Amino acid sequence: METLFLKAQNTLDWERAGEILRRGGLVAIPTETVYGLAANALDGAAVKRIYAAKGRPCDNPLIVHVSGFSQIAPLVKEVPEEARKLAEAFWPGPLTMILEKSEQVPMETSGGLGTVALRLPAHPAARGVIEAAGVPLAAPSANLSGRPSPTTFAHVRTDLNGKVDALLDGGDCQVGVESTVITLVGGTPRVLRPGGVTLGQLRAVLGHVELDPAVLHQLGEGAQAASPGMKYKHYAPRAQVAVVDGSPEEYAQYVKGRKGAWALCFEEDMPLVKLPAICLGSRYDGAEQARRLFGALHQLDQEGAQTAFAHCPGQNGVGLAVYNRLLRAAGFRAVYPKGPLVVGLVGPSGAGKSTAGARMKQAGCSVLDCDGLTRSARVYDAACIEELQGAFGPEVAPGGLLDRKELARRAFATEDGRRRLGEITFPRILAQVRRVVDAARDAEVAVLVLDAPTLFEAGLDSACARILAVTAPEEVRLARVMERDHLSSEQARQRFTAQREAGFYTGRADYVVDNGPGASWEKALDAVLFQLKGEAAKRL
Ligand code: TXA
Ligand code: MG
Repeated sequence: METLFLKAQNTLDWERAGEILRRGGLVAIPTETVYGLAANALDGAAVKRIYAAKGRPCDNPLIVHVSGFSQIAPLVKEVPEEARKLAEAFWPGPLTMILEKSEQVPMETSGGLGTVALRLPAHPAARGVIEAAGVPLAAPSANLSGRPSPTTFAHVRTDLNGKVDALLDGGDCQVGVESTVITLVGGTPRVLRPGGVTLGQLRAVLGHVELDPAVLHQLGEGAQAASPGMKYKHYAPRAQVAVVDGSPEEYAQYVKGRKGAWALCFEEDMPLVKLPAICLGSRYDGAEQARRLFGALHQLDQEGAQTAFAHCPGQNGVGLAVYNRLLRAAGFRAVYPKGPLVVGLVGPSGAGKSTAGARMKQAGCSVLDCDGLTRSARVYDAACIEELQGAFGPEVAPGGLLDRKELARRAFATEDGRRRLGEITFPRILAQVRRVVDAARDAEVAVLVLDAPTLFEAGLDSACARILAVTAPEEVRLARVMERDHLSSEQARQRFTAQREAGFYTGRADYVVDNGPGASWEKALDAVLFQLKGEAAKRL
């Protein structure tokens, strides 16, 4: 079949695409999530061609795309209040809602189900083509079934050129993972597929929202999938993929010496990993990982990779979608390194980190006070003192004895001095932390907590598999710091402006415990402890 190439910047091409779709043809279109392969959703025969072109099992239903909220009414039995709220908050955008379908939606589109999935995409060309077609468009991701979803025009061309009527080139997709699918049918709203809209965002609008177990766990033999798409192997490159759930150091250690394998990892892993590697961005930037993920899976194919080890992403925010896709690409092969689960405990001054640390200790965790460690003679050994003298003058250690006040006075005077001090001391601190981690492994400690105010600055996070942030409202923290350190409000405020904002910590955390007034932080922390122990148990 001759495939027509169209351009998303050209509104005339939207009309051409619309015309093809009205006549029952297939057109691949860009959306903000991934490219979709579109057909008239109300034309069963046209929709059948999608299944044929993709090689998709025909019991796997399609998402119906509309260009305005009012267009969903004829497609569903009723529009519940929850749907209105979600549309208000997230449409146009990467959210798909499942509702009971009306007679108008053919069985081909709903995969034989009595429900229909609906989405109003944000991409202007996607909406333009729907408008031009004058009908809602059924559009699964524009990849061959089972292959990674397409996020660039080149991906679409490789999979579908010659198989469909037209391809509309819209460049790279902004979100990079598919829409979040939420069902509003039958009880509590439930996320069937995590995506561009996060669980937290959904909960902020609807209150209670569940996560379908199939998102994170392989369905048992013969189990009924809430979303038929979840029972198929998905997003798979040709390489065998395994997901390694550990700290950057554990990950690097695990993949070390695996000849011929590829690493699929984060910026923070790159200096540690010796394999050929594809970087997904920072381990703390789920949105960037989402943008790069499918491109990375496609690249594995281009490189002819046979085996790949993916570093497990955090599961917060959009990270949950990245984790879900990686698990599926790996066929749920997950690896848990042996040894203690190392948890970085962080948070702004006055948030109550030490209180949290104490409770974790009570609960059986081993807790390392990294602040104390940074002052130890192990770090400030003779070689270190010599280097410090070289950098800051012999006066910082008269007679070889460290004068901390003088060192601080000189090192903290300039940005450059601060950096030099870090260069000299941080690797030594990290080496000490490694010793403690090794000792904990020998002692069969399950959870090792690093209580470290400068965890990120000192690079100690490379030893952490999880990050726990404790936080509290600024006013509360100010009051605590004033009382604890006998400071005036002025002084306390000054100290705060010199420090990182709370968001710096919470944005990097796998778990956040709110230790503000009224917040029952013990309960929240205990819930986190329960999860940590579950994670640690996988490492036995
Ligand atoms: O971002 C997206 O959603 C992209 C773009 C093109 O809009 N589309 C997409 O479609 O990812 P697809 O077909 O690859 O994934 C649709 C998912 C499948 O897992 C399917 O099983 C599920 O949604 N689904 C569709 N209709 C459903 C229904 N009525 N009940 C349960 N799950 C449904
Ligand atoms: Mg798909």
